[in-house]
Amino acid sequence: MKNLLIVANWKENKNQEETAVFLSDFSKTYEARPNVTVVICPPYLVVPEVWDFIKSNNIQIEVGVQNISKFEEGAHTGEISAREASEFARFAIIGHSERRALGETDEDVKKKVELAVKNNIEPIVCAVNESVPIPSGTKIVAYEPVEAIGTGNPDTPENAESIAKAIKSKNNQVQSTLYGGSVTAENVRKFTQMQNIDGVLVGGASLDPIEFSSIIKQC
Ligand code: PGA
Repeated sequence: MKNLLIVANWKENKNQEETAVFLSDFSKTYEARPNVTVVICPPYLVVPEVWDFIKSNNIQIEVGVQNISKFEEGAHTGEISAREASEFARFAIIGHSERRALGETDEDVKKKVELAVKNNIEPIVCAVNESVPIPSGTKIVAYEPVEAIGTGNPDTPENAESIAKAIKSKNNQVQSTLYGGSVTAENVRKFTQMQNIDGVLVGGASLDPIEFSSIIKQC
């Protein structure tokens, strides 16, 4: 049985109260599986809330962040450093297409990966295809075609498999490739049963606690 990584990317959704409701409902239905690592990447402001909840209730989930600063520390208004994030997060999504659309460059992604690794955070680098440069130090890549994100039109499992395979063969250091883009409880297994797909990055469907725990069950 291969090990799978299931990552929730909440994006700009959920305040404290909404997070509390999610956690309470999710913890009632979530069943940890030995070969599945589950990561929740909430907005920064509720990262400590998620962290506290899973530690105090002994729930087997990891916390991640959706981004980190490309600067180590200092006068960078509005930024959160890898060192600050590392108090809570074991993973960081880096270079999501929604961030690249706002101007994040391959060079920025490289700096962020360096800082993540230096601070013991596992970077999950997003790539829209197999040609995106993958910085050294990256072990996990999420293939996320833009047309599939938030549209309800996922890529085909066969195409996702061939891109995942190409990413691994071009980048020897990459150990896991995830698929992201309109993943649901209904289609998750079609992706995770592919040989080179080692998990999924889930946006919209991770906001619903029942749907997300069902993704974990079905994967
Ligand atoms: P989606 O988002 O599951 O809502 O398509 C995936 C992502 O952008 O990570």
